[in-house]
Amino acid sequence: MHTQSATKVAIVGAGPAGLLLGALLEQRGIDTVIIERQTRAHVEARLRAGVLEQGTQNLLREVGAAERMDRDGLVHTSVELALDGERVKIDLQGLTGGKAVMVYGQTQIVQDLVAHRLASGRDILFEVSDTTIDGISGASPSVSFVHGGVRKTVSCDYIAGCDGFHGACRGAIPAEKLTVFEKIYPFAWLGILAHCAPPAEDLIYARHERGFGLYSMRSPVLARHYIQCRPDENLAEWPDEKVFDELELRLGGRTTLPRGEVIDKSVTPMRSFVTEPMRYGRLFLAGDAAHIVPPTGAKGLNLAAGDVHYLSEGLTDFYRTGSEAGLDAYSDRALARVWKAQRFSWWMTSMLHDFGPGDAFGNRVYRAELDYVLSSQPAMTTLAENYVGLPY
Ligand code: APR
Ligand code: PHB
Repeated sequence: MHTQSATKVAIVGAGPAGLLLGALLEQRGIDTVIIERQTRAHVEARLRAGVLEQGTQNLLREVGAAERMDRDGLVHTSVELALDGERVKIDLQGLTGGKAVMVYGQTQIVQDLVAHRLASGRDILFEVSDTTIDGISGASPSVSFVHGGVRKTVSCDYIAGCDGFHGACRGAIPAEKLTVFEKIYPFAWLGILAHCAPPAEDLIYARHERGFGLYSMRSPVLARHYIQCRPDENLAEWPDEKVFDELELRLGGRTTLPRGEVIDKSVTPMRSFVTEPMRYGRLFLAGDAAHIVPPTGAKGLNLAAGDVHYLSEGLTDFYRTGSEAGLDAYSDRALARVWKAQRFSWWMTSMLHDFGPGDAFGNRVYRAELDYVLSSQPAMTTLAENYVGLPY
């Protein structure tokens, strides 16, 4: 059996990018279909980022999906960086004329956006398979997939490839039309999520001779900790207590971390990745489908939001006025912001991690960079304005 339907914008992927784009477009009266490979439960349980720029917060408020964020989110007006145990507070709010970030899990954002879409009477087609993208170089693109055992084809005006790094959309663009930029880092993050209270208000990013450590949180009773590890790290060698002990050492050994039940432990590889352009004909890429940043700068989710802001503006202009200017400018506008965030994420990652014995000179230079930042207000201001988020 094969069914046909039509919509204005077909969105592939129900992660933050796809869901937020769908919410923005539906709010502006633009019909969308969202298809998703995973189950709803899987999508809503994925443990990802947790620091929101002002712009991301505002987009969630704009679409009316920010009630729980504004209730439960933690406003952070400062962040700490530590060098060999010496912690320095970066006054984000003071250095940026009042801006701050919100600590609120991506997991919760996805749950909020799914609930928002379903409550508005719009659907999300979960558990689709065999997604194929057709006609993107012409005037009648379509997305085809199997859902509920039935092959379905959705004809549309435009396709938004919000299907992440491992999705189908980027691959639908002829390879000769794409330029890919990639940097693989020689380390990863071992992360834990634990039921325990934070001993400090701020997130703490630490550079130590033993390696990088990050103390973060999801709520006053849910801590999120990371330590630098090998990309092929064996989790079996890291019992819970050893992770807490190691992070305490990397924070300088003077902070006693509360301990609690560890409910998630995983290794996250580190890469920088950008696809240019972020558009091919009637297909637009947004979020992880187009770019990946090392998580040190907390930019992945926020870049997805920025892409979606630009794309929703371009699509809205087109459907309201017929102007394609915003769509034609999308890739350049998005990439200008993507590359600034790539620079910041690479800079934070380089300053804070140990690149191993193979780069002794680089390690000294990066350590000196951090030492300089922690002693220079102009340098701290640079870090602060990038951390809270550059304007759209
Ligand atoms: N068909 C349908 N859905 C797909 C397909 C496909 N062929 N391939 C992937 N997907 C879905 C994935 O299951 C996922 O739910 O697309 C979604 C992509 O979501 P994300 O990977 O979260 O990417 P994005 O929405 O761009 O959000 C970026 O997520 O990975 C983090 O660090 C990243 O915080 C950043 C954020
Ligand atoms: C997190 O809490 O998961 C987190 C916070 C800040 C980062 C990266 C991850 O830079």
